Order: sequence, then structure tokens, then C-alpha cells
Amino acid sequence: MMWSVIILCVLLPLSIGLDNGLARTPPMGWMSWERFRCNTDCKNDPHNCIGANLLMQMADRMAEDGYLEAGYEYLSVDDCWMAKERSQMGTLVTDPERFPNGMKAVIDYVHSRGLKFGIYGSVGNKTCKGYPGNKYHMARDAATYAEWGVDMLKFDCCNPGPNFVTGFEQMGNYLNKTGRPILYNCALAICMGPKVDYNLVKKYCNTWRNYEDVEDNWKYVFNIIEFYGKNDKNFLEIAGPGGWNDADQLIVGDFSLSAAQQQTQIGLWAIMASPLFMSVDLRNIVPTAKQLLLNKEVLAIHQDSLGIAGRRIWNIDDHAVKLESWLRPLSPKGRYAVGIFNKNVGGLLQTVNRTMSQLGLTDENGYTMKEIFTGISYGPYKLSDSLVIRIPPTNLFLAVATPVTEKELIVF
Ligand code: GAL
Repeated sequence: MMWSVIILCVLLPLSIGLDNGLARTPPMGWMSWERFRCNTDCKNDPHNCIGANLLMQMADRMAEDGYLEAGYEYLSVDDCWMAKERSQMGTLVTDPERFPNGMKAVIDYVHSRGLKFGIYGSVGNKTCKGYPGNKYHMARDAATYAEWGVDMLKFDCCNPGPNFVTGFEQMGNYLNKTGRPILYNCALAICMGPKVDYNLVKKYCNTWRNYEDVEDNWKYVFNIIEFYGKNDKNFLEIAGPGGWNDADQLIVGDFSLSAAQQQTQIGLWAIMASPLFMSVDLRNIVPTAKQLLLNKEVLAIHQDSLGIAGRRIWNIDDHAVKLESWLRPLSPKGRYAVGIFNKNVGGLLQTVNRTMSQLGLTDENGYTMKEIFTGISYGPYKLSDSLVIRIPPTNLFLAVATPVTEKELIVF
């Protein structure tokens, strides 16, 4: 009997999630890629090139302008930070011109500002932009990252080769072996085939990209929302403390989204419990975008301690009406975030007329609602009462629904 218990324990994985104690709620931070790409031209564009100055200036802004305090704690450099070749010893080398004092000096500075540091690597022998990949060097590179004080690795799936799944597992194991807590961000998007096994991904990764790159354009944001709305293989249900689907960076404050579309992006990312990595120039961000990134009520939904990702609960996609509704359970139990999204890009406002029950709410005492971007309160509503609102194209109505208490019920 005893032996069979022991054998069973060995055969069955004891926990289905990666248990490195990190990402108990979806991580937040800043990432260089979407806004600064692979700009390595420090001669002609010293202000915007990937190098020590850019990262240290961004660390200052995060520490001094309220972002760190709001929860954005990881400062993450993406592709193109390296020299084109490894050292003769085979170690990774930072580009010597753009990082004159090496990466450790930058990381020490970032830590001195109270932030954590994220770095970028790839499972193949080259990154997507042709810099050295980690293939054949994973143990050594994990040790280098730990020595430098890295707190997060975005591990990309560029030039993957047939054994990339093993590569992702191996890198995760090497990171764990360093003994340093390093959040493992598996940027699997380009390798995600139809056969993806999300339970396996969650076993090895703290976060995982599962869809195409976001670009500074509504169409890309919209396509990501659609992908998450479809929720193929129920990947949203697989998310939870320790492991999250990553819908890619926020483009709030960049060039192309309207103010309302920026609200839609961050609001739905919060409901989906996707990591929130800003990718914007924090040195000259417009005040409205800054305010949105720091919106406490949106971030409270995102960081909710129940750790349950929201889901789309209905979707109308016909010629005239393109409308969908999302629901995320919140703590204390019984509260919900409700997101109603007018997907139409045509000029008309869309009327929504839905009972509480149709929005997925079930408490028999009914609900009050507070919309987050306008501050308007709605209700109290019985379950059979309707919320009637009008939403402009591409806008999100984002509210927290709170059950009516027994006391309130007497008055109601
Ligand atoms: C892509 C990845 C992007 C960025 C880029 C760098 O594969 O999805 O987020 O990291 O590589 O080359």
C-alpha cells in the first residue's frame, strides 16, 4: 500500500503550475519592444536607441512618476541588447557601445530605483533579429542572467528547430537551478500550433504569449481581443496564480489608438488577466494616457486576488451589430468586472439593453454597478432588470458589479 502511494506520487505531477513563487497575480512592467523595436542607431538617434541610457531614463520615470507605486515593477529590455557575437569563452556579451559599462551596471541601477529587471533571449541559435540565441548555451546563460541580477526572462521562439518544447522546458529548469527567482515569460506565440498543450505550458512558464505581436494599430489590438474572446481550448480557464496568458504589450500612450481605444485595450487586458507591460516613451507620455495607465480601479481588477481570468460570455457578430460582453469574478466573492465592448467601427452608437442575468450575474439580491472610466453609478438592479446604455464604436463599458446587501435590499 505504502509503496503504491509513493509510486503514485512520483508518477503524478504534484502541482500543475510552475511553482517558483512568482507571478501570483499577472505581472506588470515596461517592455522596450513595441515602442523602441530594434533601434540600435545610437549615433543618429541617441535618445531612442536600445542602450543603457534609454533603460536608465525609463527606470527614473517608473520610479518617480508613480508607475512603480501603481504596480509596474519590471523594466524589461527586449531583442537587440547584445553584441552580435558571444565572447571567446561562449558567454553572452552586451553591445559594448550602447552599454559601455555592461548590463550588470544597468541592472544595479534599475534595482537601486526599486525596480526589477527583465531580459530577453531565444530558444533557437539566433533571436528574431539575428542576435545570439540561447541554444546549446542555456545552463551558462541562465547562470549569467542570475549573476547579473536578472529578475525575468522573456524567452522567445525564434529559429526554434524541432525540439523547441524541450528547449523551453530546459531553460525553465536552468533558471530554477540558479536559485534566483526569475519570472519565466515564454514568448511562444510564433511556435503555437493547433496542438499546443496549455497544461504543459503552465507547468513550465509564469506567462506565455499565445497570439501574434501587437503593433501600434487598432486592428492588431482588435484581433488579439477576438482571439481571447474565442478562447480556443479554454486557455483562459487554465490561467491562475503563477501562470498567465500574455496578450502582449499595451500600446496605451503610443501613436495610433484613440483615447477610448486605449481604455478598451487596458480594460480588456485587465479582465483577461494578461500581464500589463507598457511599451511607451514615459519621458513624454501625454497626461491622459498616463492617468489611464495609473487608473487604480482598472489595476485593482487586473490584480484581483481571486486570480481568475475573465471570459467573453456572449458575442453578437452580425452585419449591423457587433457587440460582446465579458465577465471576471472578483474578490470579495460575488463581485464581478463586467466589460461590454462595441466592436463596430461604423459611426453609430450601439444600444445595449441587457438584464443582469443576461450579463452573467446570478446573485438573487441584484446588483449595483459603477462604470470605471466615467465614474457613473447604475442600479440597484434586480436580476431581471436591464442595464440600458449606449456605447460608441470601439469603446468599452467597464464596470464593477457589487451584489446588493440584505440591508440595502430593504430600501430597494
Ligand atoms: C517576436 C516577439 C516580439 C519581440 C520580437 C523581437 O517574436 O513576439 O514580442 O520580442 O520577437 O525580435
